Amino acid sequence: MKKYEQQRSFLKSNFHEFKKMKTDKQIGLLKPPIVKEYYLDSKIVTLPKPCSQVITQENIFNCIEERRSTRFYSEECLSIDELSYLLWATQGITGTNKAGLTLRTVPCSGATHTFETYLFIMRVEGLQSGIYRYLPIEHKLLFMNELENIEQKIDAITLEQPFVPNFAKKAAVLFAWSTIPYRSEWKYDTTAHKKILIDVGHVCQNLYLTSESIGAGACAIGIYDQKLIDEVLELDGEDEFVLYLGAVGKKRNKFPS
Ligand SMILES: Cc1cc2nc3c(=O)[nH]c(=O)nc-3n(C[C@H](O)[C@H](O)[C@H](O)COP(=O)(O)O)c2cc1C
Repeated sequence: MKKYEQQRSFLKSNFHEFKKMKTDKQIGLLKPPIVKEYYLDSKIVTLPKPCSQVITQENIFNCIEERRSTRFYSEECLSIDELSYLLWATQGITGTNKAGLTLRTVPCSGATHTFETYLFIMRVEGLQSGIYRYLPIEHKLLFMNELENIEQKIDAITLEQPFVPNFAKKAAVLFAWSTIPYRSEWKYDTTAHKKILIDVGHVCQNLYLTSESIGAGACAIGIYDQKLIDEVLELDGEDEFVLYLGAVGKKRNKFPS
């Protein structure tokens, strides 16, 4: 079917085509930075070391079996330890390879890790509400701004949700993963983009499963206003733009007394 041809081709391996390409890496262009820079006078929040004590459901079989996209949340806050665990599980650094690239809690094509994590924080114990960026090397948060009317902004960003309207603003935290595609394009040229999409799926799946393990629930969000969220997060929309969102909150008690 003609109309799908181009997009289907994007989904394919394209390895033979890749072998014929001269990538920016091969022609000796400078390797892009592995993480985004920040000003030293930024407001930085230290996170507790990620630890397994926050886990209430240790059985991975149960976490996988019970995982559901969760769009109703309790009023309960996430603790800072829980947030630290979720950030570590989705983008935490656990090593480096010979090329000096980071190895993380999620697999990633060629360890290119093109993602930056932004958080819309509504309810985390001890943290001011607002938008933050995760600094994976330091395992810290950079406070970006308070974001006035944060709930209204999230409503506008997440457009007309098909299952539960306006649910994202009721989450404790909304994760927003941006990509800086050149980190992968430098190495994989025009075959980078399929890999980036696969990579972000791993990130969100870890959010789902680790949320489950702390009595919280997550929901992936692919329906969002690209221009608006990029503007809110001060991304240029070309060299860095949002790719995927994930809402997280403590689960509502099924049988409230
Ligand atoms: C790529 C992707 C995008 C999604 N986007 C949304 C979304 O915008 N809104 C929403 O409510 N759910 C969204 N979901 C959740 C799916 O609707 C959900 O995974 C699906 O209905 C299956 O349900 P389950 O996750 O509970 O097994 C998305 C899931 C994926 C993987």
